[in-house]
Amino acid sequence: MMLKKHEQTENYLIRRGVPGDAHGIIECMQSVMDEKIYLVSEYYLLTERGEQERLKSRDDLTLVCELNGKIVGVTTIQRGMYKKNRHTASLGIAIKKEFRHMNIGTGMIKEAISWSKEQGIEKINLEVFSSNVNAINTYRKLGFEYEGVRKRQFMIGNRYTDDVLMTYFTSNMEGSN
Ligand SMILES: CC(C)(COP(=O)(O)OP(=O)(O)OC[C@H]1O[C@@H](n2cnc3c(N)ncnc32)[C@H](O)[C@@H]1OP(=O)(O)O)[C@@H](O)C(=O)NCCC(=O)NCCS
Repeated sequence: MMLKKHEQTENYLIRRGVPGDAHGIIECMQSVMDEKIYLVSEYYLLTERGEQERLKSRDDLTLVCELNGKIVGVTTIQRGMYKKNRHTASLGIAIKKEFRHMNIGTGMIKEAISWSKEQGIEKINLEVFSSNVNAINTYRKLGFEYEGVRKRQFMIGNRYTDDVLMTYFTSNMEGSN
């Protein structure tokens, strides 16, 4: 758990999400989806009950950032579900618009990386729109590398956008070929 003070002297808390956070998580995710330019999905697909169940999984991690009793950021780490990819995980992150550029994203990703290391996850993958320069800068600063690009994979409004694949290796992986 991390307790941080941000510039406007309010405290924010980054902690593991619990079933009671379901409503706040859905609200936070939907507000970012409503912006339509950062995330592929435009509707959060789980109901509150479904989200509560998802939060009970010990295999995956959901971090929330709480500020003045409200959830303003959500970060997920979803571990590969097969034997062949259990050493990998996918990272997703969304901070509510008014709370960006306060280091919350950086704090959440650092926390997600250290949890992944503890779990023996060796490779953390993510996908980001090429148009999302803020996110790409954040990931680069934290040590994510470019892994590939799927060209014109998405259409945002009437513009094609590339899907940038980035990854963070938590260890030197031996035995790769
Ligand atoms: C991308 C996102 C997670 C970053 O989180 P954040 O809390 O806003 O970012 P931080 O305050 O931790 O800043 C991290 C870095 O982002 C970059 N950044 C921040 N503000 C920036 C700006 N206005 N312009 C360019 N880069 C900026 C910088 O590299 C910054 O590092 P530094 O200022 O310490 O050098 C957040 O903006 C977000 O949720 N965006 C909308 C949803 C989204 O894009 N999700 C990811 C989809 S793949």
